[in-house]
Amino acid sequence: MAIARGIVAARTLTVLVLAAGRGTRMRSAVAKVLHPVLGRPLLAWPLEVARALPATHRGVIVGFQAEAVTKALPAGFEAILQPKLWGTGHAVRQARRLFAGEGDTVVLSGDTPLLTAATVRRLLADHRRRRATVSFLTARQADPTGYGRVVRDESGEVRAIVEHDDADAATLRVDEVNAGVYCFENRFLDRALGRLRAANRQEEYYLTDVIAAAVRARLAVAGVLCDDAEEMLGVNDRVQLARVHAVLRTRVLERLMRAGVTVVDPPSTWVEPGVRVGADSVLLPGTTLQGATVIGAGCRIGPHTRVRDSRIAQEALVRDCCVIEEATIGPRCQVGPFAHLRPGTRLAAGARVGNFVETKKTRLGAGAKASHLSYLGDAQIGRRVNVGAGTITCNYDGYSKFKTVIGDDVFIGSDTQLVAPVRVGKGALVAAGTTVTKDVPAGALALSRAPQKIVAGWADRRRKLLGKKQS
Ligand code: UD1
Ligand code: CA
Repeated sequence: MAIARGIVAARTLTVLVLAAGRGTRMRSAVAKVLHPVLGRPLLAWPLEVARALPATHRGVIVGFQAEAVTKALPAGFEAILQPKLWGTGHAVRQARRLFAGEGDTVVLSGDTPLLTAATVRRLLADHRRRRATVSFLTARQADPTGYGRVVRDESGEVRAIVEHDDADAATLRVDEVNAGVYCFENRFLDRALGRLRAANRQEEYYLTDVIAAAVRARLAVAGVLCDDAEEMLGVNDRVQLARVHAVLRTRVLERLMRAGVTVVDPPSTWVEPGVRVGADSVLLPGTTLQGATVIGAGCRIGPHTRVRDSRIAQEALVRDCCVIEEATIGPRCQVGPFAHLRPGTRLAAGARVGNFVETKKTRLGAGAKASHLSYLGDAQIGRRVNVGAGTITCNYDGYSKFKTVIGDDVFIGSDTQLVAPVRVGKGALVAAGTTVTKDVPAGALALSRAPQKIVAGWADRRRKLLGKKQS
């Protein structure tokens, strides 16, 4: 007996994810499973579940836009081509090689992104404990439209799954639906798929017909009702896409809130699953945090600010309407409102970047400030530098990019143009309105202005001559 149990535990497990369908109901030129959900393709969510299962083989059935879908697969998944889209049963059949011989196969849909690995593990454990031939998850959906209905007999045993399009009025009233998550005993699956017929409204080979085949053969079939109907939501159209998107967004936000982050307005806040945020940080309404962004403790972000693939250290303040991409922001920095920090921006501790300032491949030293209306590109700016309003680095001549280097404690007056390549030495002062074309030595003053002329009374004389007030 102990040996027998050992064999059961060691059975091989294949996981297949169905992703070949066109997704007709999306009315899209893009394959359904490639539509993004919180920064990842729809398909990435079930793949994460597949990866979390103790499988020996992991396959993804591809067909419509096979090349693009295959490209979206992470390592460890084998793409299997379904050359004609003849239905879910036909799709699984293409992967026969992966479930030849002893063992079980779990089948997931590429369009069911809310499913968790814990739920599939429970299904698998239950399937093996009962030594079932087929086990599958079901749920009661308030709106079962479009799903396959689970038909049971008076004693509650599963008889069949009937697809929406093939169901009669009585069957359409059944609210228990097939979630599209299955465990099959391999040898049975292989045999049953070989016998499928496409005798239905859609003229497809339905994977769901395998259930009725098992019932007819008096094999053990378990339709396992899952309490959490939300987890079973599938995406067939864009209304359902928005619905699952909202659920996934809420899941991520609730995890952050439980870890000590204040999310002032969850419905308008979007945080992708790979983002980390420290405790006591506050996300104001309309904030979007994307990619591999890491935010330290005690920061305030937003409202209406988007941060992608950036690091923001503790106690930084990023005000309204900023766009921050591939940037590093030090502790206690202040950014915005309306700042645009582009890739390669690095702000050291306490630096400030104010409204209508754009930075790219630019470092600001500790305590440096660029408070208003500037473009700083390919610049290295020292500590405690003051960059005046309207300062522009002229870093591009139409062919190449050039660097501007500004030493510590420099004061750059307003409306300065720095024509790169150029260097301003430590402690130098650049007077307002200067066009810097030559290096400025440390401690020097740089000044380039056309001399100002005063013509006394000129404006009054003109007014008299034209004989009317300015309009
Ligand atoms: C399917 C089930 C239905 C269930 C629902 C749950 C069938 C026949 N029906 O219906 O009982 O309630 O899922 O969400 O299985 N696919 C392929 N190749 C094909 C056709 C589809 O790989 O030839 C893939 C799709 O990309 C998709 C998945 O299989 O990821 C399900 O296909 P879909 O057309 O969405 O099936 P539903 O009508 O939702
Ligand atoms: Ca579906």
